Amino acid sequence: MMATMTVSMTEPKTTDHGAQWRREWADAQKIKGPGLKGGSAFYRNIEEELDLARQTGGGLPLHLPSHTIDFSTCDVLGLGRTGALREEFLKELEANPGFHITAGGSRLCDGTNRYHDNLEREIAELVGVESALVVHSGWTANQAIWSTVPRSGDVLVYDELMHATALAGMKVSLALEQKPFRHNDVEHFIEIMEDVKETSPLVKAGKRCVIIGVESYYSMDGDICPLRELIEAAKEIFPHGNAQFIVDEAHSFGCMGPSGGLGFVKEQGLEDEVAIRMITLGKALAASGGKSPETPCASKLTDSNRSLYTV
Ligand SMILES: Cc1ncc(COP(=O)(O)O)c(C=O)c1O
Repeated sequence: MMATMTVSMTEPKTTDHGAQWRREWADAQKIKGPGLKGGSAFYRNIEEELDLARQTGGGLPLHLPSHTIDFSTCDVLGLGRTGALREEFLKELEANPGFHITAGGSRLCDGTNRYHDNLEREIAELVGVESALVVHSGWTANQAIWSTVPRSGDVLVYDELMHATALAGMKVSLALEQKPFRHNDVEHFIEIMEDVKETSPLVKAGKRCVIIGVESYYSMDGDICPLRELIEAAKEIFPHGNAQFIVDEAHSFGCMGPSGGLGFVKEQGLEDEVAIRMITLGKALAASGGKSPETPCASKLTDSNRSLYTV
């Protein structure tokens, strides 16, 4: 007994988080479908579908945060870990005793309250746009924007490294013609835009739009969009003002731009050239939610977007 105590005091127990993660990962790759033969088809089908991912090492374990250095969360400024945000949150709750914790319904029905309204107004003012709409994540914001703003007959042109959430919105958009251009390649962008002009007479005549999707600071490669060049080229090819940009600022808001990080578009002074900016509140701002500000688009989203029911 004494000997054991001495060992544990001189050799403090450390956790090898890497080994723990590898164990969890290996566990997550174990094939489960065949073990469910004879059981419920519902659960077996789900496991068989998951087995396809497991066979290629794609079973992803959900693990709890560890005390290792954070190289992977989106809390890039470490704001979420300081405790300051929690303090501010509690102060805000105290300052707004009438705040409803529950929404009681979707934003479209009874789920919008005065606090939401003020928040959206404050954000719009801060960013310097006409209106803002807060939804519960960047995923929802991108879905909302891309599935509702383009009209039938519009053409979508987007950087091939656009985030999967934007692509998911485009998939259900009414704009059937969708053309990627090579990542950050202005020459290829011009080629694609010229091609749209040739093949879409309504767009050429300024009766339908080209809606262009880019990220300001790419999540995939960590590089920056040549936004000014793209805008100049788009305006030259489509002089009727019907080539408009939607910029995903998920990774630039809070990190780049004036007043402590109001984003890349603002930093570049391109606010008047961008129709919609998508900003996430769950990354550098260490909260959660996404918002899409700008012009009458927010009201169109409010009018028609199914995704808002998830707020
Ligand atoms: C570029 C980009 N847009 C949108 C999102 C989605 O944001 P959220 O995680 O808030 O759903 C992400 C998430 O990582 C992202 O990297």
